[in-house]
Amino acid sequence: MGPTDMSDGSNVVGIKGDILKDGLKRVQREVDSVFDAFLPIPNDTSARLIEAMRYAAIGGGKRVRPLLVVSTAELFGVDRTAALRVGAALEAIHVYSLIHDDLPCMDDDDLRHGKPTVHKAYNEATAVLAGDALHALAFEILADSGTSADPFVRSELIATLGMASGMNGMAGGQIMDMIADEEGVEYDLHAITRLQQLKTGALLSASVEMGAILGKIPPEGRAHLRAYSRDIGLAFQIADDLLDVEGDAALAGKALRKDSEQGKQTFVTLMGVDKAREQARALVDQAIAHLANHGAEADMLRALARFIVERDR
Ligand code: IPE
Ligand code: IPE
Ligand code: MG
Ligand code: MG
Ligand code: MG
Repeated sequence: MGPTDMSDGSNVVGIKGDILKDGLKRVQREVDSVFDAFLPIPNDTSARLIEAMRYAAIGGGKRVRPLLVVSTAELFGVDRTAALRVGAALEAIHVYSLIHDDLPCMDDDDLRHGKPTVHKAYNEATAVLAGDALHALAFEILADSGTSADPFVRSELIATLGMASGMNGMAGGQIMDMIADEEGVEYDLHAITRLQQLKTGALLSASVEMGAILGKIPPEGRAHLRAYSRDIGLAFQIADDLLDVEGDAALAGKALRKDSEQGKQTFVTLMGVDKAREQARALVDQAIAHLANHGAEADMLRALARFIVERDR
């Protein structure tokens, strides 16, 4: 790339940066209000569970997954309210995965989104159950006719989120991550790629896929979006691992420098900081190239891809 290309590139990032900031802010507000509506605090002994769910789900997180759903759905003229509900379902799974990820039996973290983790603010049993209940809530939202009037769409949304969350998705990746510190376990590039694609990539890919499902786009029309989301999914976890090494904990709102302490195996441990960053950037370029047949309507997806590697939290 010559200097002219560079300046064009940074201009684009500059302009898109604002689109992205506004897009994230808006979706953060909207997802908070979906959770607020689904999680009224009852006047009985289950109140503590719902309070813990609200504590974890409302007012924290970048909401990258909901923005992916909404921005993909927008390509196909989908009603925003429906897309936001699907985004909240994805975020419910994501938040549950973080609550459990932070438990002492997993990563043992005390801070998330700049405040005590759920098991610290409440207790371990409440954290496990708040995670369980958010997991269930995700599917309740998708199965609700208010999310889509079309039962075929609802069932495809449910199947897609189920696959992305379970043994061949997030949970399957988390177990590889947990095993990584065991003696004699050494992952090669192929295994690390699979780990990352499962633990993080699957839910990010599902976000894009579910936006296309809402748009009633048949699987053969989703190939370029799948290629886009696969690339950003991988780049996203590489960026998280880079932040763990180089980031500012105050900005991240969580403890950093934990991966090496806990013997995690990541792209960064395998190839070092510089190569990992190079790899993440190359993936983002590749992701954006997959959107070449879209015009300005895909600018948010392009900006999101850039944000994923340049983010500081
Ligand atoms: C953090 O995800 C955990 C990973 C899957 C890498 P995010 O960076 O999306 O977390 P929040 O919700 O924005 O805090
Ligand atoms: C978490 O990955 C991935 C999931 C929760 C599925 P990390 O353990 O790297 O996430 P952080 O760094 O705690 O946010
Ligand atoms: Mg973890
Ligand atoms: Mg963790
Ligand atoms: Mg991490």
